[in-house]
Amino acid sequence: MTTSSSSDGFYAELTNAEGGALRYAVNGAWRASSSDATVESVNPSRANARANAFQACTRAEVDEAFAGARAAQGPWARTPLHERASLLHRAATLMRENAGGMVSALMIEVAKGAKESATEVERGDLLMSDSFPGNDRNKICMASNVPVGVVLCIPPFNYPVNLCVSKVAPALIAGNAVVVKPPTQGCTATLHMIHCFIKAGFPPGLIQAVTGRGGEIGDYLTTHPLVNAISFTGGETGIRVAQKAGMVALQTELGGKDACIVLPDADLELAAKSIVKGGFSYSGQRCTAVKIVAVFEEVADELIGKVNERIAKLSVGLPEDDATITAVVSKSSADFIQSLVVDAESKGATLCQEWKREDNLIWPLLIDNVTHDMKICWEEPFGPVLPVVRVKNENEALELVNKSRFGLQGCVFTRDIDRAIRLSDAMQTGTVQINGPPARGPDHFPFQGVKDSGIGSQGITNSIKVMTKVKSTVINLAKPSYTIA
Ligand code: NAP
Ligand code: G3P
Repeated sequence: MTTSSSSDGFYAELTNAEGGALRYAVNGAWRASSSDATVESVNPSRANARANAFQACTRAEVDEAFAGARAAQGPWARTPLHERASLLHRAATLMRENAGGMVSALMIEVAKGAKESATEVERGDLLMSDSFPGNDRNKICMASNVPVGVVLCIPPFNYPVNLCVSKVAPALIAGNAVVVKPPTQGCTATLHMIHCFIKAGFPPGLIQAVTGRGGEIGDYLTTHPLVNAISFTGGETGIRVAQKAGMVALQTELGGKDACIVLPDADLELAAKSIVKGGFSYSGQRCTAVKIVAVFEEVADELIGKVNERIAKLSVGLPEDDATITAVVSKSSADFIQSLVVDAESKGATLCQEWKREDNLIWPLLIDNVTHDMKICWEEPFGPVLPVVRVKNENEALELVNKSRFGLQGCVFTRDIDRAIRLSDAMQTGTVQINGPPARGPDHFPFQGVKDSGIGSQGITNSIKVMTKVKSTVINLAKPSYTIA
């Protein structure tokens, strides 16, 4: 595949003349690895046929990337903020002007629908000492946020552009350098995005991109002595990254089992619409997807009827046809999803639609009468299958949320705002949406998980906080400074 859009010329540097494997980015240039080895991505919509190939970077090349980033970061941290900002705006303009390459790469490598792919490319204090009793006014503390240094950015397959830029942009504006490890599935789109940044004119070495399978070079990257902060988005791998990471700032945004609680007084039409949008957009491959419904028994039949009506209207097919349900990212993912459905059915759950799968393409499925002994009650399918648990009261609904090892988001549907706030307080999740489906955006909103859903908070301001550290300068005055009236 390599690239296939009107902006081919713009991306020519990413491959050699023969159109071979995409190169990796180091010190402002695109290079082939001395390993002569490559890793390949597949096209989930075409029976996992080969999609693209990337360099399998060596440890020495990883070292060189970190050394280059460290060297570039010093002068960059001394670059005035407005100059940093203008380069970011330039990069954003280039991304918009050359979006075609990224959009087609997203459709081919992660089976994201045409419209959703285009949407993804378009998104992203003085202190005085006498404030304390017993202190004279003779110390002035100037606290500022200074860059940590080199930030390792590791995005997931499902948002290889947006969840890369939402790490890189805050890191750069804060004065850091970045080393990016793109996901293998989705790598082409991430490398295109990096190219827009390099073409925007950032100093060579400030933005490095090393490619290779996470399982092969991941540990070497996350334990590298030149890393000062890690911003990781992904699945359980992130727990391993956190355990391995040394004394570095950490931001890990991990999996979710986002519950949707539907109370008897809820607007069931709104709830059904939100459940289908939240549960099935991008085939359920969003950390914020609705992954379990807890509906009060007395309205369950009515709600499920409305949800099934909407599921029947979902389009299933190819990303280029903008289908809502497209192939899931890999055969192993499709197998895992199927295993959860088989387990649930074998334990008495009711499939509301016929189970249907062709390679990685799984037809949308609602599963009723799910009970706690079924794996799908607790696992993250990351696919277009949605379990429903019928509950008798709030405690049963809360149990589903709080017994989960995940704690990313949840949502509550009710017309009683007091009840909604009370439930929100009791839910052990990073965010609770009231009368709307879970979602991360817009990208300046704080976004965080608890428990196995992650460490730290995202969103532009919070990411900058993770990627900077406080530096205090205290002036000790010879005598207290009081303003003379
Ligand atoms: P993943 O398998 O955990 O991979 C995430 C990234 O980590 C990829 O770039 C992967 O590279 C890399 N990686 C793999 N092994 C590594 C290691 N040992 N050290 C360092 N990096 C390593 O997740 P995914 O399948 O891409 O994404 C799906 C998961 O991400 C789901 O669980 C979803 O809920 C979660 N997610 C969470 C959020 C959030 O904001 N909370 C957002 C999106 C997705 P390779 O591709 O080369 O293996
Ligand atoms: O899984 C990616 C996650 O970050 C979801 O973003 O905006 O689709 O909720 P969003």
